Amino acid sequence: MALIAPSILSADFARLAEEVEAAEAAGADWVHLDVMDGRFVPNITMGLVVVKSLRAVTRLTLDVHLMIVEPERYAERFVAAGANIVTFHAEATPHAHRVLQMIRRAGAKAGMAVNPATPLDRFEDLLEDLDLALLMSVNPGFGGQAFIPRSFARLERLAAMRDRLNPEAKIEIDGGVSVENAAKLVRLGADVLVAGSAIFNRKSSVAENISALRNAIAS
Ligand code: DX5
Ligand code: ZN
Repeated sequence: MALIAPSILSADFARLAEEVEAAEAAGADWVHLDVMDGRFVPNITMGLVVVKSLRAVTRLTLDVHLMIVEPERYAERFVAAGANIVTFHAEATPHAHRVLQMIRRAGAKAGMAVNPATPLDRFEDLLEDLDLALLMSVNPGFGGQAFIPRSFARLERLAAMRDRLNPEAKIEIDGGVSVENAAKLVRLGADVLVAGSAIFNRKSSVAENISALRNAIAS
């Protein structure tokens, strides 16, 4: 069964704890935290203090997605702040393997993400050491963007690479995930669906949106 990881980027930041508690009560599997530095991506969001604060209010896996340059400077501190999984971007460091070792040694699971235009070859020599491969299906930086259709074919190829190199590794898809495409994404090999605006959208409740996604992937 695929996991659902609500991205709090679209949540109400003045009520973050309540939003996370609502997601947990509604059966979310992980909480996805988008850390942006205004350099790797053109937006600034949350940092260590938010991870630490949310660690105190939820037992869910904290899935931290670092969209920052030089992730080697901060990766261990995010683990210390309470992250269970730390994912960095392949494009943000010349030392991807070193970063994953740092995350692992600090006691968390290690993930690597790639942007929509980055060749999947970047995973070829690293997947056997990764816990998670994150495929961006929008350009990172903002919630609520449209899913890039080419991501379906990329997901299928990444899933085949994962099956060959490291069947234990999870594939996470991030960006534009909705009730319309969720079932297809799971069918093509996604293990974890990140969803921000599909869950925190004030059109329906967090619980209704999570159960709509669950129903979509169960059908
Ligand atoms: C985008 C972030 C995503 C974002 C997804 O840079 O990595 O996690 O919150 O938002 P939606 O689901 O609205 O595309
Ligand atoms: Zn993300």
